[in-house]
Amino acid sequence: MTDLSAFQHPRFARLYERISAESERRGTAEHRDRALAGLSGRVIEVGAGNGMNFRHYPDTVTEVVAVEPEDTLRGLAELAAATAAVPVKVVAGHGDALLFDDGTFDAAVLSLVLCSVPDPGHFLAEVRRVLKPGGELRFFEHVRSRRPLLGVFQDTITPVWSAIGGGCHLNRDIAAAIGAAGFEIDELDRFSYRPLKFVPPHAHILGRAHKPGQTK
Ligand SMILES: C[S@@+](CC[C@H](N)C(=O)[O-])C[C@H]1O[C@@H](n2cnc3c(N)ncnc32)[C@H](O)[C@@H]1O
Repeated sequence: MTDLSAFQHPRFARLYERISAESERRGTAEHRDRALAGLSGRVIEVGAGNGMNFRHYPDTVTEVVAVEPEDTLRGLAELAAATAAVPVKVVAGHGDALLFDDGTFDAAVLSLVLCSVPDPGHFLAEVRRVLKPGGELRFFEHVRSRRPLLGVFQDTITPVWSAIGGGCHLNRDIAAAIGAAGFEIDELDRFSYRPLKFVPPHAHILGRAHKPGQTK
């Protein structure tokens, strides 16, 4: 069995549960709808957290396999899965070594997760591996600001933020990481919003990419 002890952040998990409802009301729900619109077939969601995406999947999705390493969040995801409109199977695991064969899924979903993974390049290579050729990647992530002063501020506070925020980095260039992992980016929207009252507006990206190759 995979050792998930390094991924346990029970205090952060309980905080995330509390703040995610506010975040949904402040615009995150609409961004999730946009990120998942038009998906179909068998989907893997990696780092599913407490399952906030589940109710946003369109009914063209036949199954979501939701991978989550953190025990508290995975328990909450199981509750969310029970009331989702599409079949969702929640599994224990992490994205640095996915327990699925190459080319298993039609699409992959990553939301607000690439900020927290230890090695985004390795993680994205794993996601790419389990996608079918031509398979889609949908992403919705917060990223380093392009405004120089804000970017330097994010660099400065990231070590402290990461310690209290379950390993979250405020200063990653995630679009570059997606491209470097061999995905072709088809659509990319960059925008700022304020998901919580206590954080200033900050940059996010939302879009779709695909694994090169012919769909079988
Ligand atoms: C900020 S939460 C986002 C949860 C959810 N994706 C959402 O949109 O609300 C980040 C999630 O990434 C998970 N995570 C961190 N490192 C991971 C890894 N290497 N593999 C899979 N999940 C990971 C955490 O356990 C947590 O559930």
